[in-house]
Amino acid sequence: MWYDGTQLGKVTVVGLPSHCQLATNPTGLCSGGLLREHSQEALDCVRTLSVFALREKTVVFVRGQQMGRNLITGGLGLIGISLARRLLRDGEEVVLFDVASDSEFLKDIAHRVKVVQGDLANWAQVADAVKSNDVACIYHLGALLTPACEASPQAAYMVNMNGTLHVLEAARLFGLASVIFTSSIATYGPGAPPVVNEDSVQRPTTMYGVTKIAAERLGDYYHRRFGVNFRCVRYPLVVGPGHTVGISRYAREMIQKPALGRPYQAYVDESVRLPLIYLRDAVWALVCLKRAEEQDLKRRVYNLGGFYVTAGELADIVRGYLPEAQIDFSPDKTALKVLSDMFRDMDGTRAREDWGFHLQYTVDEFVQDFISEVQSSPSLYE
Ligand SMILES: NC(=O)c1ccc[n+]([C@@H]2O[C@H](COP(=O)([O-])OP(=O)(O)OC[C@H]3O[C@@H](n4cnc5c(N)ncnc54)[C@H](O)[C@@H]3O)[C@@H](O)[C@H]2O)c1
Repeated sequence: MWYDGTQLGKVTVVGLPSHCQLATNPTGLCSGGLLREHSQEALDCVRTLSVFALREKTVVFVRGQQMGRNLITGGLGLIGISLARRLLRDGEEVVLFDVASDSEFLKDIAHRVKVVQGDLANWAQVADAVKSNDVACIYHLGALLTPACEASPQAAYMVNMNGTLHVLEAARLFGLASVIFTSSIATYGPGAPPVVNEDSVQRPTTMYGVTKIAAERLGDYYHRRFGVNFRCVRYPLVVGPGHTVGISRYAREMIQKPALGRPYQAYVDESVRLPLIYLRDAVWALVCLKRAEEQDLKRRVYNLGGFYVTAGELADIVRGYLPEAQIDFSPDKTALKVLSDMFRDMDGTRAREDWGFHLQYTVDEFVQDFISEVQSSPSLYE
């Protein structure tokens, strides 16, 4: 349970699976009763929850806010650091867990976050990071991306699959309020329709896709079986300033290199059309999903819609802001084959309907914002 330890006027208990009703409670906790830290009333109330809830899922939100720290696994990666900035801006506390120990992108916020160096594949390190930092929510972003997964499927299994198991186990054992996970369009694959929604068939053929769909299912299982508040977004390609090494990095490099005055030779052809989401919107989605009311969620995993532009169209948008941009195309067959599994649109209707998610940037606004970010700190993005 998380609450601020003082007498509270109103407490709302949320986050229980629908089959887990709150029993009648004599103290009126659920209808706005008083709760004191470790008070007998609080304990009695907890005891009135179903056995399932008592053991596995007792989450208290105070005045709509979850108290406690956020742990971001993969916290030194592209999305992790951006998410950390966003959470700090919102007044939240952040711990970054990553196999790396530092990042040049951390400089502006280094004094405001704690960095825990650790390996997701190591249960003791994950458990210790969660337990010793009073963590309430894990944003589970740490993963090996497509090229690393293909280079070593065994390492991918250890990090992406065992790592997710460790995160979910920590959430279960330490009674965390939520686990927010980032999956991918790469979980679809051959046989999926041109526009995919949450019911579309998922038969990934890459190791990355296999680990991501396994993690989705594991999270869903932990929710059903243990009541872990697992929530997940399936991203299109996330594009933002930084240094990612994923197979979809062409979209980032196509904006970042010209913004630095450098030529860029893309490894895709102009007709390649993958759905994209701007980094700031990708982060915003995680924040929105965490804040969503439990009763509004009809599923644990949501697709996010994105922009649908070809590589050629994206190059033209960049040239519109940077007329001197030199962008050429020199397609790489292997990369195209991997990417071809993702040549489809993501239907983000359900995220919009259930928890009100909308993109905050149009494609032009995102390219413009991206360029100005790179040009404001060019040395960072070289
Ligand atoms: N960038 C995208 O286009 C995209 C699209 C779909 C899903 N995602 C998912 O979003 C998440 C974040 O992606 P990103 O773009 O920030 O990637 P990234 O590579 O920039 O960040 C991943 C981070 O995970 C860390 N990491 C790797 N192995 C680890 C381990 N064993 N223990 C702890 N940390 C480890 C890396 O050091 C890195 O900092 C990933 O789970 C990724 O699969 C990203």
